[in-house]
Amino acid sequence: MKERGFTRIGFILAAAGSAVGLGNIWKFPYVTGEYGGGAFVLIYLATLALVGLPLLLAEMTTGSLSRKEPVSAYEDLSPEGKRYWRFAGLKLFTGFLILTFYTVVIGWIFYYLFISLTHLPATPEEATALFMGMLQEDASTQIFFHAMAMLIIGAIVYRGVKAGIERINLVLMPALIGLLLFLFFYAMGLEAFGEAVAFMFAADFSRLSGEAVMVAVGQAFFSLSIGMAVLMTYGAFVDKKTRLPGAALTVGAMDTAIALIAGVVIFAFLFQLGMEPAQSVGMAFISLPAAFYQFGAAGHLLAAVFFLALAFAGITSAISILEPSVAHLNQRYRMNRAKATWGTVLVAYLLGLLVLLSNLKGFEWLSLGERNLFSWFDFLTAAVFLPLGGLLMAIFVGFITDRERYFHQLHEHGLSRSAFNLWIAALRYMVPLGVVGAIAAKVLGLI
Ligand code: PHE
Repeated sequence: MKERGFTRIGFILAAAGSAVGLGNIWKFPYVTGEYGGGAFVLIYLATLALVGLPLLLAEMTTGSLSRKEPVSAYEDLSPEGKRYWRFAGLKLFTGFLILTFYTVVIGWIFYYLFISLTHLPATPEEATALFMGMLQEDASTQIFFHAMAMLIIGAIVYRGVKAGIERINLVLMPALIGLLLFLFFYAMGLEAFGEAVAFMFAADFSRLSGEAVMVAVGQAFFSLSIGMAVLMTYGAFVDKKTRLPGAALTVGAMDTAIALIAGVVIFAFLFQLGMEPAQSVGMAFISLPAAFYQFGAAGHLLAAVFFLALAFAGITSAISILEPSVAHLNQRYRMNRAKATWGTVLVAYLLGLLVLLSNLKGFEWLSLGERNLFSWFDFLTAAVFLPLGGLLMAIFVGFITDRERYFHQLHEHGLSRSAFNLWIAALRYMVPLGVVGAIAAKVLGLI
């Protein structure tokens, strides 16, 4: 059964919808706070441009050349008799792990949307108590909103690429951009706006560590959605008229712009009230609500706009994380879409419950060393599996597959021979350098 694919604008918005997510608005600002501001941002941006963009194009092109789900795509484009399709297995697995904790966070966002309208916490202490109370003691609230997140995502994906994924992105992405611009213009009027910009862009390399480099590289992969075959899966549904190099650039630019805007907005609000850049997953959920409280009635509106933007960003990414597994089951095993979707959702939901519980008091057995399950999944997927998945993609296109097929396709899309060669060089050398360098920086403690 052949499904109908994306329109041109539908593809760009869906790919951007995947890239722009909790990674941009929730994670990027707090890891920037945690790892010291400007220097971290610089490494992040460099990775995005030199490693991320070439990989984005590699994934999209691989998908569009085979027009199949990820495992079959690797199979089709592998040299005769080689089993590189196994690469795709790791990617589907990674996506599955991300889905489990990603939806837990979307659940928190739904709850905070409700808090924004009813009772914002008045002080940072109250805000901490509210978030920690939910996180560590209130299982039922989290379970309720987590289930809601899973249901919404499943309900979109099961309708298919066109009627589900494209349609929702056409609405939510413009809405998200509008909401964020509203916050940005508001933040521009705050005195602390300049301080926020300085924090993000003034690089202090003394605060940089091997771990910071690894996290920055991982964050770039996570934020662009590369390394787990999402863009490959979307690429399989691309319209023939879509020019992939332009699409990759547009998606990369949108992703970067939104991360930077979200960072500046959040730091402007925090600094305006003399708060420190909190250094934890709680930043968007603790410091920010308390900051919004100070704005009175307008604060409720600001908070609601913020959490709505976060919810939209999260949903459009979560559906993209689910789609590769669904496409795989649907196309490779001929499972119908409803079964494939709800089956995957159910398993992800159950594993997600454990992830959710691992944050609660009394569930310390769901921890290993310093990290609980939530933190392990987050760290392992972003810092290890996604870069590894990206590395495999780079090796595959850079060294293994028939590159002339890629050239023909991209040449039709306007890429010259020399630009193509540059791209292959980036895949062959920059990507391994970035990934291995980041891991070495951490493991060997080079910085
Ligand atoms: N890019 C998304 C974000 O920034 C997360 C994501 C990761 C989506 C991997 C798909 C694949 O939130």
